[in-house]
Amino acid sequence: MTWLNTRRGFDEIEALGDITCGGVRASNPIFLASGTAGHGAELAPYMPLDKLGGIVVKSLSADAWPGNPAPRVHPTASGMLNSVGLQGDGVPHWTQHDLPVLEAVGATVVASIWGRSVADYARAAELLRPVSARLLAVEVNLSCPNLEGRSAIFAHDADLSAQVLAVVRAELPSSSLWAKLSANTDRIVEIAGSVHAAGADAVTLVNTMLGLMIDTSTRRPVLGNGGGGLSGRAIHPIAVRAIHDIRRAHSELPIVGVGGVSNGDDVIEMMLAGASFVQVGTATFSDPRSGVKILRHASRRARELGVTRWQDLVNAAH
Ligand SMILES: Cc1cc2nc3c(=O)[nH]c(=O)nc-3n(C[C@H](O)[C@H](O)[C@H](O)COP(=O)(O)O)c2cc1C
Repeated sequence: MTWLNTRRGFDEIEALGDITCGGVRASNPIFLASGTAGHGAELAPYMPLDKLGGIVVKSLSADAWPGNPAPRVHPTASGMLNSVGLQGDGVPHWTQHDLPVLEAVGATVVASIWGRSVADYARAAELLRPVSARLLAVEVNLSCPNLEGRSAIFAHDADLSAQVLAVVRAELPSSSLWAKLSANTDRIVEIAGSVHAAGADAVTLVNTMLGLMIDTSTRRPVLGNGGGGLSGRAIHPIAVRAIHDIRRAHSELPIVGVGGVSNGDDVIEMMLAGASFVQVGTATFSDPRSGVKILRHASRRARELGVTRWQDLVNAAH
């Protein structure tokens, strides 16, 4: 594999100024979404990771976790269904082996954490504390079942989500915390307010939507775990709606948009709805250079639309 030409074609990206979100600043709004860009610098052979606003790494738990049985991904009509199941080697392994590699390629890093109990989140955050100054932010993935509470999903419960943010805030007092929410609930606006009050600097909207595909020959689910999470173009309007609704209800809450972003217009649309940063996820599976290509397209489209600063796009649909 060659690393030689990763920068070619990306020199002409329009400069539209830095942009801020949740108390932190990035050189542009484009980030890679958690779980779609690896734990470390796996995508560095394909594109210059330092050109991006940053990379959110796959969600990390305090301890290693094996994930779900194969098959774990399946294409859908306009996206994909996955049940990877948060596989990973845990925070200590990541801080020792993956974070230094990301830093060596000049990437701006956002860590993502998950847990199966409030205490699990606290422990993952505590383990991140020694490296917190090397991270732009910590994203708290709340789309996980709470094993202490009859497997309710944290992100579907305002109180539980607030409890998680409160313990993570206590462990990481100076970090920018992004609470990643789910649109599989009609209470997302209320939940955004409760995580903000509990210490989140921003909300990341949205995680995958619950889905299921059944193989008509075997009469069994196509994924090893049964159901999975739907992502990709199919969910883009759901994400834009969530961003728009939450901006309308919480005018001061910074938003990171994610869901089905596949070109520069999708980025601009999310920013108009209220997002300051925008993450690229499933698009990376069809083209590993998607992140920087979408950045280049978004900056070109912004110029065409007469916009000279990223910041001027944010909330402009309201
Ligand atoms: C294969 C796969 C793995 C994912 N793993 C995670 C994860 O570990 N943590 C997380 O917060 N989100 C995870 N996500 C969700 C994405 O970060 C993103 O929120 C979602 O896919 C919607 O964006 P997209 O349509 O651009 O992919 C994963 C998504 C996919 C497709």
